[in-house]
Amino acid sequence: MILIIDFGSQTTHLIKRRVVDLGVEAKIVLPRVAIKSIKEYKPTGIILSGGPASIYEKNSPQVDKKMFALNLPILGICYGWQLIAAYLGGKVVKGKSEYGPAKLKILSSTPLFQRISYKTSTAWMSHGDEVIKLPPGFKLTASTESIKIAATANLKRKIFGVQFHPEVDHTEYGRKILTNFVAVVCGEIVKKKSIKVGGIINYIRKKVDKEGENTRVVGAVSGGVDSTVAAVLTAQAIGRRFIPIYCNNGLMRSGTTERVKKIFGDYLKVKPIIINCRRQFLQKLKGVVNPERKRKIIGRLYIRNFEKVIKKIADVKFLLQGTIYSDVIESKGTKHASKIKSHHNVGGLPKRMKLKLLEPLRDFYKDEVREIGRRLGLKEDIINKQPFPGPGQAIRIIGAVTAKRLARQQQADMILMRIIKEEGLYDKIFQSFTVMTGIKSTAVKGDARVYGEVVAIRIYGSSNIMTAGWSYLPYRILQRMSSAIVNQVPGISRVVYDITTKPPATMEWE
Ligand code: XMP
Repeated sequence: MILIIDFGSQTTHLIKRRVVDLGVEAKIVLPRVAIKSIKEYKPTGIILSGGPASIYEKNSPQVDKKMFALNLPILGICYGWQLIAAYLGGKVVKGKSEYGPAKLKILSSTPLFQRISYKTSTAWMSHGDEVIKLPPGFKLTASTESIKIAATANLKRKIFGVQFHPEVDHTEYGRKILTNFVAVVCGEIVKKKSIKVGGIINYIRKKVDKEGENTRVVGAVSGGVDSTVAAVLTAQAIGRRFIPIYCNNGLMRSGTTERVKKIFGDYLKVKPIIINCRRQFLQKLKGVVNPERKRKIIGRLYIRNFEKVIKKIADVKFLLQGTIYSDVIESKGTKHASKIKSHHNVGGLPKRMKLKLLEPLRDFYKDEVREIGRRLGLKEDIINKQPFPGPGQAIRIIGAVTAKRLARQQQADMILMRIIKEEGLYDKIFQSFTVMTGIKSTAVKGDARVYGEVVAIRIYGSSNIMTAGWSYLPYRILQRMSSAIVNQVPGISRVVYDITTKPPATMEWE
């Protein structure tokens, strides 16, 4: 087994997934129990994760130096590598920040780079500090254009360091590098592992039945892949004791209510309860500009509406949510992690709730949820549906959400989605949407001055949400989108294309 020490990276859990996908057991532990955990689990190797802190910061997470005397293979990633360097006699400084793609040049072959035939590839970075002097016994093995020490190895002690993130999809040979660490350096036998759908269904059944065999579950559904997969799993576990509910709050994409009715009619032969609460959401959001407040208001409103409905149904004890791991970690899911934003279904929930949460997909990533959906036999148009956030258009309208701006956003977004589909792009990209930026600019429409709002288009590729790259769309298609939006939506004066990767930018603007 591989032990992963968590310094609070957004992608620590993804490191574990990569190891587990190789059929090798992995455990994530906090730095303060590292030595105790090594004694308990007897790992064949250790991975030190990245993290948001700087190693010289007061209270930054540290680890017992005894770890380096145990003769175990160690791989340090980003902060984890900087910590190794500082402990073993190297030098770490506040260096050149790098977020997103970098050109990685392999300078020297090591077991970590085994069977990587290309000398130059793309690796993703997310760091502020940098190691500028190697500890004794370490050799330089890779550099990027902006940092010299991008990878290093002490072959005698089997200690490796990488400044980039091999666990993320966008690092071209990331999986190979982690496989090499686990198999070649630590000597684990690797084999492909698949998700056990039956195990998830059993988990749901056991958890619900523990509260009594008549216990009912209401499911917050939206027509999206996560809530649909969670609902189908739950229906398979407890049958008619599962009741889907959809909150029609006016912030979803047009046509969502019909979609929800169709999905549950087709798959579960059950009519979802539809709550119409459009006016209430707009009223509570009136004048609210802070994104975190928006999310909290929305999270609370969802729950209060569900609670109101279940008063009329006997034995409801659980609320099913299609929460996935990216929602959890961005809402500060672990001790040393930063809170990036409070996803409405995790950090945005009210403190006191009458319902217990049932979240069977909480440990899975989007691509895994899609895989589970496929195994459940869901149609491709459900599995491939682009994600849409629970707070809906409210977090795509920067600043105050008014009925007028919401109508413009809905119209611009619909135009964009129509073109995406007509151009055959829907299944090729991960997510696409418009953003009402809150910035006004001057335009001239039919010889008349218009002082309207700037709309941004965000289109990108990803598989598990942790990293994303913007889509290189042909200019012709971008022009088509721009013309259609400025021509057809009143009050919009300009269209811009967002060309920022994640990291550093998140997918949504708020
Ligand atoms: P970010 O903007 O955090 O988005 O990079 C990652 C993914 O999550 C979606 N998202 C949310 N989904 N509640 C949700 O259900 C939320 O509060 C929320 N915020 C972001 C976003 O659309 C993207 O797919």
